[in-house]
Amino acid sequence: MSANAEQTESSVKSMDDIMSLCKRRGFIYPASEIYGGVNGFWDYGPLGAQLKKNLRDAWWTDVVMKGCDGKLGPNGKPVEIVPVDTSIIQNPKVWEASGHVGGFNDPMVDDKETKQRFRADHLFAVYLLEPVNEMKTDEHYFIGGAIERAIPDRTAVGNTPTEALKAICNESTLRKANGIKKLISGIFSGQDHRVGSFATAWVSTSNGERYIACVPLSDGILERRANEVPSPFTGKAGHLTPPRAFNLMFKTVLGATGNMEDNAAYLRPETAQGIFINFKNVVDTTRVAVPFGIAQTGKAFRNEVTPRNFTFRSREFEQMEIEFFCHPDEAAGWYAFWRDWRMEWWQSLGLEGDNLILREHDSDELAHYAKEGAGTSDIEYRFPFTAPGFGELEGIADRTNFDLKQHAEHAGAKLEYFDNTRGELAKNGQPKGERYLPHVIEPSAGLDRGVLALLCEAYTPDPERASGVYMKFHPRLAPIKAAVFPLVKKDGMPEVAAPLAAALRKRFGHLGTIEYDEKQSIGKRYARMDEAGCPFCFTIDGDTLTDNTVTVRHRDTLDQERIAIDSVPDYLAEKLGL
Ligand code: GAP
Repeated sequence: MSANAEQTESSVKSMDDIMSLCKRRGFIYPASEIYGGVNGFWDYGPLGAQLKKNLRDAWWTDVVMKGCDGKLGPNGKPVEIVPVDTSIIQNPKVWEASGHVGGFNDPMVDDKETKQRFRADHLFAVYLLEPVNEMKTDEHYFIGGAIERAIPDRTAVGNTPTEALKAICNESTLRKANGIKKLISGIFSGQDHRVGSFATAWVSTSNGERYIACVPLSDGILERRANEVPSPFTGKAGHLTPPRAFNLMFKTVLGATGNMEDNAAYLRPETAQGIFINFKNVVDTTRVAVPFGIAQTGKAFRNEVTPRNFTFRSREFEQMEIEFFCHPDEAAGWYAFWRDWRMEWWQSLGLEGDNLILREHDSDELAHYAKEGAGTSDIEYRFPFTAPGFGELEGIADRTNFDLKQHAEHAGAKLEYFDNTRGELAKNGQPKGERYLPHVIEPSAGLDRGVLALLCEAYTPDPERASGVYMKFHPRLAPIKAAVFPLVKKDGMPEVAAPLAAALRKRFGHLGTIEYDEKQSIGKRYARMDEAGCPFCFTIDGDTLTDNTVTVRHRDTLDQERIAIDSVPDYLAEKLGL
């Protein structure tokens, strides 16, 4: 039985419910919705925009302003990070040097009949296998049987085998198309040394019970025998093309009279390159010394072939990236430092427990810039659509000197760093200095994926509440920090409540919204705050007018306590950890 076998479908939150709350309460809307939307783009509403800003601010504060929140680096010194804010459009040669123009491709497979296009690595082989005797019903036995068959019975689409299998077992049209009547067991996920990740389940079909196994399409099958592989939605063989490279860069034209051939430019697919090409500028114009980092947040654009899973894979998204420059001999120590601190950071924001993992890459997953033996790891979150598997939130990679070297070569620029603290000692006992291209450790996080993980983690169904659900955001990230309510809109209560809200706004308004609401019943107002994830509500009632106390309602426990109205600002400051 696989490690994740206990995690069955029933324990996973519903992504549909989360998306519907996001729409209903103004966290996230489909972009261009009144025109029918545009695939792969999303708009943040008032609550979502504030939540996103709070996450970006937390990153900026802890990374840039506090230098890893004050944690000392492996050299025993404070970590030095400076920010930049570089252009989305750069000289196109930047992207030739970085390898994006030539190599930032996804292999795509087309269905010639339906004209659908799929990422080859998002197609999975599905085998319907006969039950065998009890002794042999272990998953790895079936996986072995599936591999021998090579050409699958069906093809499924997803980010992971689990997601793909979930779709064909649960979506009624796909279930029908694949001849599946119903799912008998939960869906189990696992790892097998021959195929990597796989997912399995028991299903009933018109031919009786079958064991269903979903595994990556094995090496070369699509390249050599695409014609025999069934198409995902029609099930017909003979319609899929072999994979073809599709570049993910968004192209545009510079200037009013420009054309796509001579004046093409690209929207950046990552913020990182804006940092590398400014490495020398930063060294020359500030007092930083290696080891140090340059940080940047901003939009990135990728013409993803199959945008999916809400904001998880979008065509426009925001990154929070650090390029940390260090001496090559110190790269391994800094890599371990960043990997561990970044994990701690996400945990400190409430992504605790089993839903967050740190996964070191296997050697066959290395990116083009990573060298054998240099570390690469992902911080991954168990999103409802990946469960029981995980999806990447942030990658931490030792990029060696790949990027600086590429830019030095392509631009003909001298990007070496002169380190006067290193090298042999001169006669005067001082180091002679050493010239080198620094190595780079890159913690690269997705802001939108971070927000999505926070939304999924916070979503807490609670049938006992009027709202049926509450959003358990960490108070630091909650878009609404506090709400002030007069119990009723009369008897002098609004006259006391409104100034309290104004005072809180003056003190805490830079951190998030302070809600003031006097409409509807108090129960309905609490319910709205639960759905918005507001951690504290302060209610002014009849007693306030006589004893100057207010009720504090705590979102998570529903506890209520009374405190002096004058102490509310300090009380909130303490609860927000200020
Ligand atoms: N500079 C390195 C780099 O860009 P990446 O793994 O391609 O590495 C970094 O991207 C992070 O950006 C990912 O961990 C993910 O959080 C986010 N990201 C990447 N592609 C995305 C997409 N299409 N939609 C949303 N977020 C994305």
